[in-house]
Amino acid sequence: IGRTFYHFTEVKSTQEKIHTMAKEGYPNGTVALADEQTAGKGRMKRDWNSLKGKGIWMSLLLRPSIPPQKAPQLTLVAATSIVNVLQASGIEATVKWPNDLMIGDRKVCGILTEMRAEQDSIDYLALGIGLNVNQSLEDMPVELERKATSLYMETGEERVISEIVTELLNRLEYELNRYFELGFSPFQEEWGKIGYKVGQWVSVSTWGEPWRAKIDRMEADGALMVLDSSGREHQLYSAEILWN
Ligand code: BTN
Repeated sequence: IGRTFYHFTEVKSTQEKIHTMAKEGYPNGTVALADEQTAGKGRMKRDWNSLKGKGIWMSLLLRPSIPPQKAPQLTLVAATSIVNVLQASGIEATVKWPNDLMIGDRKVCGILTEMRAEQDSIDYLALGIGLNVNQSLEDMPVELERKATSLYMETGEERVISEIVTELLNRLEYELNRYFELGFSPFQEEWGKIGYKVGQWVSVSTWGEPWRAKIDRMEADGALMVLDSSGREHQLYSAEILWN
């Protein structure tokens, strides 16, 4: 990971860069990092705030030999890598299913995985990571003030972006190798410890009215198993856990 490494001062979106580079034939493990994104993309067509020098705005090009339906597992492998890097600096983060990293009840990092695939093989994945590092409260848009955080807001210390990038690329390589060797089950199991609100009641939205659910465990395929108020199990493949 990162042997082919591009550092941009300003781009629209590192995801867009990776899509272009993938089509041009760049290899597995290519990384695009930007100081600033002018059109950072979040999940579900949301924007992603990517102020200059305030965070890690980075996308990876992956060409894994796994079936397309396993692609979401790689998002969790990436999330686990980031949790471990933060933990090494004494910061406890959790993984809010499917792909947000939280410190307490605030989001510190989002992951966006986009795939191009044939029926039964992946052409490539663009795995984008947006980690808030040096923002102060004043840097946060008003609507995110209570929902988002940064490493600086949590610790009062500014961090050198490139140092975290190096740690993160090393850790991503390590965890991806572990995944390709051992499969998903170690990550599934570890999620029980690093998952956000495991064993607790939350509101979930499955695109209709939000409902109450107790987060139980992660399934072998990356689905989230929850219990409803009558104790019935539901397997969620696509849902949003709401702030509450
Ligand atoms: C989300 O939580 O909605 C996912 C956010 C992903 C943001 C990152 S920043 C680097 C990469 N380039 C983008 O345009 N988006 C991702």
